[in-house]
Amino acid sequence: MASTSKTLLVVGSGPGIGRAVATLFASKGYHNVVLIARRDDSLASEKAAVEEAVGTQVNIRTYPVDITDPAALGKALDDADAVFGKPECVFFNAARVLPSAFFEHDVKEIEYDLKINVSALYILAQRCMPHLVSLAKVSGARPALIVTSSALPLQPIPQLFALSLVKAAQRNLVQSLHMTYAAEGVHVGVINVAGQVFPDDPVRNPTNIAAKTWAWFEGGEGFEVVI
Ligand SMILES: NC(=O)c1ccc[n+]([C@@H]2O[C@H](COP(=O)([O-])OP(=O)(O)OC[C@H]3O[C@@H](n4cnc5c(N)ncnc54)[C@H](OP(=O)(O)O)[C@@H]3O)[C@@H](O)[C@H]2O)c1
Repeated sequence: MASTSKTLLVVGSGPGIGRAVATLFASKGYHNVVLIARRDDSLASEKAAVEEAVGTQVNIRTYPVDITDPAALGKALDDADAVFGKPECVFFNAARVLPSAFFEHDVKEIEYDLKINVSALYILAQRCMPHLVSLAKVSGARPALIVTSSALPLQPIPQLFALSLVKAAQRNLVQSLHMTYAAEGVHVGVINVAGQVFPDDPVRNPTNIAAKTWAWFEGGEGFEVVI
């Protein structure tokens, strides 16, 4: 039976930004949390970390899935929906940072990154958007699709050209989604982390990035934030 609490879906759960956002949103009332990443052992650590930080009021389900597999992603989302109902906030955070030198980089690696950052996001939006639009008509609901990115779309790094180009395509997709669905009441945006993340960086640390994400989610204008 589906729960009536607010549900956060984190696609790309890991010890950095993913964990910080899951923890903060859970502490703010998103007591149902769905975590997706490829590695089951890593997901178990993420679940334990959020539970330890937030306490027993949070209900977490984990689904080990490579999101480049549409069937596996769809099955995981179906299973999560059956437990918690459809998510009110979708946080898309999956990415890999792989050096890509001209022209040693195999085109298959570019295609894999495109599947993570663009195809999987498209499939997720296609699936979640109708419910987010319907939630926008419900008093007190704040339906959202939030995507993490970087400075790479506008400032590509040639040694990371593959990630740069897929992040550019992803930003373009999120912008189109924002242009289409913001008017329908869905908060769609991208959190651009403009540099490497370190726990002890005064600005680009996961806790501050999560706080800035929450601030934008609560009342930010436009479709992107730069941190
Ligand atoms: N870290 C940085 O320095 C930095 C800088 C600028 C921007 N960003 C952006 O921040 C976001 C990531 O945040 P983070 O670096 O702190 O990472 P994170 O939240 O610690 O973890 C992200 C998780 O995504 C998962 N993932 C990757 N490929 C996947 C796939 N094919 N299917 C399912 N899950 C997948 C990985 O887990 P598995 O390996 O278990 O699948 C990884 O642990 C990305 O959008 C990235 O572009 C990061």
